Amino acid sequence: MTRHWVLSVDALMADGEIHRFGIGSVKANAGPSLAQMLIGSEGIFGMITGATVRLIPKPTEFLTLLLPVANFQDLLELPGQLCANGFLPSAFEFFDPAVLAELRENGPEEARRLPGTALAILEFDDRGCTSEAFIAALTDALGPISEHLQIASESRQREQIWNIRRLTSAFLKEQHPKKVSEDIVVPRSRIHDFFEGLEKLKIPAVTYGHLGDGNLHVNLLAAGETEPMELDSQLMDLFKLAVGLGGTLSGEHGIGLAKRQAFLALSDPGQIELLRALKRAWDPVGIFNPGKVI
Ligand code: LAC
Ligand code: ZN
Repeated sequence: MTRHWVLSVDALMADGEIHRFGIGSVKANAGPSLAQMLIGSEGIFGMITGATVRLIPKPTEFLTLLLPVANFQDLLELPGQLCANGFLPSAFEFFDPAVLAELRENGPEEARRLPGTALAILEFDDRGCTSEAFIAALTDALGPISEHLQIASESRQREQIWNIRRLTSAFLKEQHPKKVSEDIVVPRSRIHDFFEGLEKLKIPAVTYGHLGDGNLHVNLLAAGETEPMELDSQLMDLFKLAVGLGGTLSGEHGIGLAKRQAFLALSDPGQIELLRALKRAWDPVGIFNPGKVI
């Protein structure tokens, strides 16, 4: 997440001045971090005008893998399993069978050749990740599921894979202009339970996204043809399921207006009170992004 890499934030505050929060250095512990409070605040405390981010050495090697499976369920334990075996992919994305089939049928030329009933894309950028020893150990950790593992050894193949992944959201929107897309999160260890719950609740959803960190883009493709009350109830069921499993409403896209009601309904009321008190303290006359989030 971006927030892990931000050292300091400059923001225009209610006093009309730009203030710097945090310092541009890697270690600081002089009181609570107001910079972290601004990050992800969606502009309700002040307007961010700049930031200092931490840099790390640019990776020198990439191992990009396609992991096709015949049975979608087989992917769901993998994030936890890999982590437990000491493998931390820099990316671990997936398409469920419905999204994969749609990409293959109507997607761009390169997508026609995507393998599997469901598909994961894994990438590592550790030093030595392209070595035979690393690949052998990884294959071992994956177990029998690695049977059809494909390595994208050329950078052109890697680009193609990431292009397909990057255009997925826009592609689905083009196919289903009225769809609703969410970005709930569940802990890695509960991904399996999440999909079981989704099935039990009979929420007509397709899913793709960031499997490695449990951030799932649950898409209700038929939202346009669903009664508004029924749609609201499906979304509320979805959010409750995620929160009940120790997850949250949003992993990256935030609350804004769209998820405000659900956020207020499903959060600890004491914390919402606290957030509102903080909002009054930062923005006494309420000029920063009024009406959003809380
Ligand atoms: C993605 C956007 C929707 O992961 O967050 O494609
Ligand atoms: Zn995403």
